[in-house]
Amino acid sequence: MTELEAKKRIEELREEIRFHDYRYYVLDDPVISDAEYDSLMQELISLEEKFPQFVTEDSPTQRVGGAVSSDFATVNHPVPLLSLANAYSPEELRAFDRRLKKTLGHEGELEYVAELKIDGLTIALTYQNGILVQGATRGNGMQGEDVTANIKTIKAIPLKLRGQYPATLAVRGEAYMRSADFDRLNQAREARGEALFANPRNATAGSIRQLNPRITAARPLLIYCYSLLMADPPAQVKTQWEALNRLKEWGFPVNPESRLCSNIEEVIEYCRMWETKRADLEYEIDGIVVKINSLEAYNKLGFTGKNPRGHIAYKFPAEQKETTVKDIIVQVGRTGALTPLAILEPVRIAGSVVSRASLHNEDYVKNKDIRIGDKVIIRKAGDVIPEVVRSLPEKRTGDERPFTMPEVCPACSAKAVREPGEAVTRCVGLACPAQQKEKIIHFASKEAMDIEGLGPAIVEQLVAAGLVSDVSDLYKLTVQELQGLERLGPKSAQNLVNAIGASKKRPLARLLVALGIRYVGSRVGQILAENFPSIDALAQATQEELEAIPEIGPRIAESVVDFFNEEQNRRVVEALKKAGVNTRQGKTAAGEQPLAGLTFVLTGSLEGFTRSEAKEAIESRGGKVTGSVSSKTDYVVVGADPGSKYTKAQQLGIPILNEAEFKKLLEGQGGEVR
Ligand code: IVH
Repeated sequence: MTELEAKKRIEELREEIRFHDYRYYVLDDPVISDAEYDSLMQELISLEEKFPQFVTEDSPTQRVGGAVSSDFATVNHPVPLLSLANAYSPEELRAFDRRLKKTLGHEGELEYVAELKIDGLTIALTYQNGILVQGATRGNGMQGEDVTANIKTIKAIPLKLRGQYPATLAVRGEAYMRSADFDRLNQAREARGEALFANPRNATAGSIRQLNPRITAARPLLIYCYSLLMADPPAQVKTQWEALNRLKEWGFPVNPESRLCSNIEEVIEYCRMWETKRADLEYEIDGIVVKINSLEAYNKLGFTGKNPRGHIAYKFPAEQKETTVKDIIVQVGRTGALTPLAILEPVRIAGSVVSRASLHNEDYVKNKDIRIGDKVIIRKAGDVIPEVVRSLPEKRTGDERPFTMPEVCPACSAKAVREPGEAVTRCVGLACPAQQKEKIIHFASKEAMDIEGLGPAIVEQLVAAGLVSDVSDLYKLTVQELQGLERLGPKSAQNLVNAIGASKKRPLARLLVALGIRYVGSRVGQILAENFPSIDALAQATQEELEAIPEIGPRIAESVVDFFNEEQNRRVVEALKKAGVNTRQGKTAAGEQPLAGLTFVLTGSLEGFTRSEAKEAIESRGGKVTGSVSSKTDYVVVGADPGSKYTKAQQLGIPILNEAEFKKLLEGQGGEVR
């Protein structure tokens, strides 16, 4: 094939593939089979390999994901990405409508566009001369992260626009995952022993904020676009409804359920309808976005803070479902606590299928009168943790059985004791196998030694195969031994050995957390590490010496002393030391604590940190994190969709840091601290 012929065929193939992507991802109406599609793509890939001079940015082959980046660059959004004020009732929607009419001096009805509010991740897409040049996360609204390489792997996003388009175009959309795809993803993760995503929103955010675009490419991500952020030359649209249509013409997926309403009552009817029909959708929605249709009116209304006055989000109440308690089993945690767990008839709620819910302790079950066989109402607290709200005694048939706490540990048959004044029943068995596994899982967890790939499924196998009986055995594992385990190929075995090896360098504070000493979480671990140069020094400490440390009370002190009194525990610590695990305090010694004495409150979700990561980042620098804003708070760190703490901070005049400012502060570039 000549160069000229190749170029021509490459262009033909691209056109064809683009057309089929559009049919498949945007119109949801493919005209060729997957196999036919694959063969077109294969032909294009091999031609581009032979003629690399013809590879272009917008070629469909560029979606597979290129180089791995070490971090995301920060990008400025062409216009700020705003957020929405919320309404929780039809009455609040009517009040919103009255407010707009009054402000605009408008007689008669106002038109609105009502759109489903998908619970996903906001993405800003920028096109130059019809070619996708940038995809960014929302970040703080002004600046986001450049996730272009990852965004390109989402096939529903056009790399090249269709029809007549402006030279520069920026649009906003919501990336999301279908519930069924999310379930499949989590099932696969569970099988591999990886941490599960709490809901499709987290899975979407986690997939897009991936440093390796190949991983993003393998995730079933979709998008709906809903805002025209910027067009140059201007797109000449007068309404949001026209904007949606224009987006469709350019080839963007636009949610077909969006509706043009001629007044607020129609909007309310739409909200009511979706409140009941939301369960039928293939994806999760958490409300309805209501937008004034006229863009002129929208601009005239302006903003309050970060919220446009002409838009409002109607939020659905937290989803509750009825289900049946099939059984109540008792689990033994790593500290030996016996926890009753309700085994439920599986139901989908707030994004994932729930089949179990913790019942915490004996009293909880009694107070809520939850019986085996009961019909119960469940919900997800904070949209994440499943909980039983109440039982429905009126639905009892007489076959229900009350729950009783066992007198022996279900895992090792040792005595189970509930001390006076305590809610928890505990197993006293030192060699309790249930605790062994949990202790290893905890040791490897993110807040502790953070050993990637060492999840519950692998630990289960390691213990079952007799390869590991306490945490120090982890450091003796070889690639060969691991390779023999289910679903662990040579490569993942090697990765796991590497990850275990890397954990040897974790700071002392983390090791203390990892050992699972009662009452020693990341904050206490940090304090202990600041006060003792090594684990040996800590092991020598007396109850009095420990209590002399501010913030260490008798309960913690006793627990630490008890831990090191136990011969078995000292043996494990020795073995860890011998394996080369760091047991000394490193460079974050006391005195090098830039945030010492400062109290922080976190609200809203940060893009670059989980809650516990942000907390640890502060605490490892000597700062303190508390749950509520008061005059003693030094800083409030505000992420996306902050709660009432944000308002409180504003009222009290407490310095507020956005994520970028928070990062700077952590990196020690915060300028003046205070
Ligand atoms: S409009 C000022 N439309 O909901 C424009 N948002 O705070 C604000 N969302 O962060 C966004 N579907 O991530 C808009 N059809 C839709 C939406 C939508 C989902 C999300 C978006 C935003 C949050 C509201």
